[in-house]
Amino acid sequence: MRQRVIEVRNLNFTYPDGTTALKDMCLELYNGETIGLIGPNGAGKSTAILHLNGVLKGVGKIKLLGKEINKKNIREIRSKVGIVFQDPNDQLFMPTVFDDIAFGPLNLGLSVDVVKSKTLKVLSEMGLDGVKDKPSHHLSLGEKKSVSLATVMVMEPAILILDEPTNSLDPGTRRIFIQMLSNLKVSKIIATHDLDLVFELCSRVVLMDNGRVITEGETKEILSNKILLEEHNLEIPASLLLKENIFSVKKSSMRNLI
Ligand SMILES: Nc1ncnc2c1ncn2[C@@H]1O[C@H](COP(=O)(O)OP(=O)(O)OP(=O)(O)O)[C@@H](O)[C@H]1O
Ligand SMILES: [Mg+2]
Repeated sequence: MRQRVIEVRNLNFTYPDGTTALKDMCLELYNGETIGLIGPNGAGKSTAILHLNGVLKGVGKIKLLGKEINKKNIREIRSKVGIVFQDPNDQLFMPTVFDDIAFGPLNLGLSVDVVKSKTLKVLSEMGLDGVKDKPSHHLSLGEKKSVSLATVMVMEPAILILDEPTNSLDPGTRRIFIQMLSNLKVSKIIATHDLDLVFELCSRVVLMDNGRVITEGETKEILSNKILLEEHNLEIPASLLLKENIFSVKKSSMRNLI
């Protein structure tokens, strides 16, 4: 049987100003699967994600790797569940890029040599060698996004949760990102408006709006439902249209041949 690594049941959350951002939200993630969390601006995606490592605490049930989050296990859970925040400024706070990436492994108590080699490896894999000694706050937004992802990758988490990972990336860096994510066999939740990325990487999609899960299903089924997507301010991704078009052209040219 497939192992459930995240289970969210009837999660409700209201911000201190009275905005109710999650209403009976339910979500499941199974071992090894990559799901897309989609929905219009303000749907509640980031709020939901901030519950998955205890930054926010709503009312409802959340189990991560089979355990409910509590004060005792929060450190352990945070080391296994890597979250890349939507805003990289929330993630980066050390004097240099190198220090930001080394921070997590150092906190785990690994030796300085091991931390150094892990950090250098991730810097190189993500094409960030050139900025390793710069202060993170001097980087461009796209560079900060890459460094944020690196701070999480270096921890080799069992679950990776990414909030708008490709937002502000140039096409080349976006491609490197997607390739890295596709090579990573850990369980992932990707909250994004980049539905081409969802089409490429996710096997299942959860659509949220107004704090609730509207529907979920197999990626192609959800992403090709024009009416459903438009009802929630979304649209069919170009890559899906292109693939379908090429397919129908191929079919019609086959018919012409017969
Ligand atoms: N700190 C906050 N205080 C009050 N309300 C907030 C706060 N952060 C978010 N909200 C509200 O909560 C709701 C959900 O916001 P959230 O950021 O979770 O949406 P989202 O789906 O991630 O949107 P986006 O696609 O724009 O990132 C919105 O109505 C938003 O205005
Ligand atoms: Mg968001």
